[in-house]
Amino acid sequence: MFRFLKRLKEQWWLVALIVILTCAQVCFDFMLPSLMGDIIKEINVKSGQTIVMQNIFTTSIYMLVIALSSGLCAIAISILASKVTSRMMARVRYELYSKISSFSAHEMNGFSTSSLITRTTNDITNISNTYVLFFRFILYGPLLAVGAFVFLAIKNSQWQFMVSIAGAVLILGLAIFAIVRICVPKFDIIQTKIDKVNLVTKENLEGLRVVRAYNAESYQKNKFSNINDSLTKDDKLANRVLGAFFPVIQLVIGLLMITITLISSKLIEKGTIPYDQMTVVIQFATLLLTGFVLMVLLVVYIPRASTCAKRINEVLDSPILVKDNAKSDRYNEVGTVEFKDVSFTYPGGDAPSLDKISFKVNKGETLAFIGATGAGKTTLLNLILRFYDTSKGTVLVDGLDVKKFNSHDLFNKFGYVPQKPYLFHAKLKENVCLGKPDATREDLMEALDISQSTEFVSKLTNGIDYEISQGGKNVSGGQRQRLSIARAIVMKPEIFIFDDSFSALDYKTDKVLRGEIKKRCKGTTNIIVAQRVGTIMDADQIIVLDNGKMVGKGTHKELLKKCAVYKEIALSQLSKEELE
Ligand SMILES: Nc1ncnc2c1ncn2[C@@H]1O[C@H](COP(=O)(O)OP(=O)(O)OP(=O)(O)O)[C@@H](O)[C@H]1O
Ligand SMILES: [Mg+2]
Repeated sequence: MFRFLKRLKEQWWLVALIVILTCAQVCFDFMLPSLMGDIIKEINVKSGQTIVMQNIFTTSIYMLVIALSSGLCAIAISILASKVTSRMMARVRYELYSKISSFSAHEMNGFSTSSLITRTTNDITNISNTYVLFFRFILYGPLLAVGAFVFLAIKNSQWQFMVSIAGAVLILGLAIFAIVRICVPKFDIIQTKIDKVNLVTKENLEGLRVVRAYNAESYQKNKFSNINDSLTKDDKLANRVLGAFFPVIQLVIGLLMITITLISSKLIEKGTIPYDQMTVVIQFATLLLTGFVLMVLLVVYIPRASTCAKRINEVLDSPILVKDNAKSDRYNEVGTVEFKDVSFTYPGGDAPSLDKISFKVNKGETLAFIGATGAGKTTLLNLILRFYDTSKGTVLVDGLDVKKFNSHDLFNKFGYVPQKPYLFHAKLKENVCLGKPDATREDLMEALDISQSTEFVSKLTNGIDYEISQGGKNVSGGQRQRLSIARAIVMKPEIFIFDDSFSALDYKTDKVLRGEIKKRCKGTTNIIVAQRVGTIMDADQIIVLDNGKMVGKGTHKELLKKCAVYKEIALSQLSKEELE
């Protein structure tokens, strides 16, 4: 948790100000008991002498000014502590966000989305709350406790007082030990369970329609209740133990006051100490215990924040498997993609999802992949975009190994339409120009035209300014598909990658759209994954995948003759006449 303090460099002067104000506050606090003693001394004049009200009044005013100064210091420290903490944690949040953004699919799978959300929100808030207390009390607590102890030892060295204060400190020490032993292991468990609550909630919200349609509410409710009850049990225990601590403090302070009063009355009776000394001892003992309790407060809060910090550091320190390069190496081809004997197994998987795949597609050509579901088509595209690194073999784009590209340069070459198109909560035009924010209105309109979106966009309220909701839920599946195709077209890339991107379109639109792309995006290489033979039969090269293996390569006509798997797929979709 203390690693975060490194981010304080630019705010060192604010931290220095907190230190100075804390020292000032402690000094003010230590002035009050002696002044109080003076007033008591004044009131308790020997018989025959008169009370000098003027002295009491002046001392009271003096005390008031000191108490106000101490209060002002406390307020200023609180404001500064919140400011320093907020800035520091905003930086951590940003670093966390940047790190997560650089994650490859492998790291995303390792952490789970819901856990990453908990870490970025709940964990950061826990640490933030603790750091405010930390800056406020890390110096104030010890200074108050040690200073009060020194004052008591020097000024009021009666051993009876010291023994009773030591007894109180010991009882509080034992209470802290018990808390740390019981609560700290629970904090780890609680944070993990919050992850799970988030996971179930997220799943339930995303799959709301499925849950309703299958009357699975009670199944989902049970799932949620189980994890929620389990979290509540642990949370309750930790809160009860923490909650019990404050009454213990009050009890110990109360008992200490009674003990000091009893001891003092005996000592005053014997004439060992003057009358006013009892008040001074009680006040210093209270300061000592307050300092001690504030230190304890940190001891109680820091373990919870440390658990959260550990989870955040796990993300910040996690090695990135797919390492980026500052600059791309030189390359001398344009619009080509080549696989050289590529095999790939998903991390943790035992069977390869792709096995010894080799092919090359040149500029302006169309390469299509077809195969049963789970054959490895999306996996293959993921390797071109370097979402994963190959297990064996090399993937080359424009003649250069993708591992030698800077990711920005690499992605700029592609107009990628994923199998599950995703639209963001933003205007329609912002969604389409995501990869090219400086695209002109003509570019945008042309992309909408090629992707056959113009008609439906013109019917939307506000047209290209239409506000798309998160995930693109307020447009139809086919419209989402077309807008994500438009997003790729706006890029004017060297290479298009369409992962089953025409499946949600009706046959006619599919045909017109592909025709338009061919006509108006001349020179662009097309890599198409499709389930429909009709979509790919005019491709320059078709590769048939089966269980991660390449079982056929050639044109539609060649494959019909030599590839049984292709012929089977084709015959299941088209009549003999259509095939010819
Ligand atoms: N993230 C992953 N982790 C582990 N295995 C995976 C992962 N993604 C896919 N697989 C496995 O890899 C194989 C190929 O999956 P892939 O998504 O490439 O198939 P596909 O040909 O695109 O199928 P579809 O036509 O259904 O989209 C499948 O057996 C699948 O279970
Ligand atoms: Mg797929």
